[in-house]
Amino acid sequence: MKTCFSIQDDFPLLKRRIGGHPLVYLDNAATSLKPQVVVDSLVDFYSNYGVNIHRGIYTIAEETTLLYEQARTIVADFIGACHEEIIFTKGATESINLVASTWAFDAIKPGDQIVVTTMEHHANFVPWQQVADRTGSVLKVIPINPDGTLALNKFEEIVGTKTKMVAVCHVSNLLGVHNDISTIIKLAHKAGAKVLIDAAQSAPHQKIDVCHLDCDFLVFSGHKLMGPTGVGVLYAKKELLECMRPYQYGGGMILKVNVDRSTWQGLPQKFEAGTPPIASAIGLGVAIQYFKKKLNFDDLKIHEASLCKRLIDGLATIKNVTIYGPTDQLQENGHIVSFTIRGLHPHDVAAYCDRFGICIRAGLQCAHPLTEFLAMGPTVRVSTFAYNTQNEIEYLLTVLEQMTKDMESVDAFEDRLHNHMSV
Ligand SMILES: Cc1ncc(COP(=O)(O)O)c(C=O)c1O
Repeated sequence: MKTCFSIQDDFPLLKRRIGGHPLVYLDNAATSLKPQVVVDSLVDFYSNYGVNIHRGIYTIAEETTLLYEQARTIVADFIGACHEEIIFTKGATESINLVASTWAFDAIKPGDQIVVTTMEHHANFVPWQQVADRTGSVLKVIPINPDGTLALNKFEEIVGTKTKMVAVCHVSNLLGVHNDISTIIKLAHKAGAKVLIDAAQSAPHQKIDVCHLDCDFLVFSGHKLMGPTGVGVLYAKKELLECMRPYQYGGGMILKVNVDRSTWQGLPQKFEAGTPPIASAIGLGVAIQYFKKKLNFDDLKIHEASLCKRLIDGLATIKNVTIYGPTDQLQENGHIVSFTIRGLHPHDVAAYCDRFGICIRAGLQCAHPLTEFLAMGPTVRVSTFAYNTQNEIEYLLTVLEQMTKDMESVDAFEDRLHNHMSV
């Protein structure tokens, strides 16, 4: 099983077998696999460095600080930001919570509006719901069209002078749909609102340039980008970060503490109180370097679209399958496909696939407002990345086909049994 990138051998987890079957990992929207160089970087960190940063003046403390700050520069370059505009957090969730609990509580007043969409992951929905509750502002939710795309016309209706924040995902973690964030950012700025882009599902799959986009805040997680867990990124425009109060207080972010008041370090330390995720941040830097060396976004897009196309075409031939989201868009630019099979609970589908070594996600996908809006229950979600192959998609389709056949024969058996008992 080779991909167009021929990188499968770089991922140690792909050597595992589950129930005698090779691992087929198709849950990349939840987290990605890590290449060996990232695993090695963690071992190297704890074997050769492993001390705290921005504190010690001995050699390995200074070396460790340098590695950590180099990782920040790598992340900044990756999205076209400046070094001091990158704040390391523990994930996209914490990055959003940081903005909600610092910028928002100062900038949002009673009667103001916060705008999100129906398709947000809970991480970009609940923090804003909390801000609205506690500030007396109003949370407005942009609906989606029947095909799963965002209702941009409603956006123009809803966003106005009272809107202070528009928080929107770049790519939906359930429908896989891509939002036209350039247009959204322009419309929001025209109304005088700030914009936060949740790039958790896009940063690993497409080129992001925060200057070109002109977004105010952008967040993503390291672990979906082949990096370690425990590190996430908040990008914010420097002028915003300079005005925002710190998120947490403690060591590392302090300039001077007096008994009656304290002052803070400059950027980015002001937002990184305590010991940060040093090893994970360095690992994320290694992941991005690996990514740049082995992959490119143009080929990745073609590769993932071709996997999505084969999956969607194959699913369409399986009885009782419903695919959610704009399939035309996904076949051109997608890495997430969600579906259900009538008569089968998504958990049963995922458990059946697991027997054959296939990892796929089943459930409400941390998107309750969306599942409620679409009046649908749990779904099965398949999500791809660079190391996935057409063979893996064929294998998944064969397993799903077999599952529906097995279920048909169980149903037929049940009918026969029923008839027999009622004679
Ligand atoms: C669109 C989106 N936003 C935010 C998150 C939260 O990311 P994390 O759990 O890494 O903080 C996820 C995770 O799946 C996501 O898909």
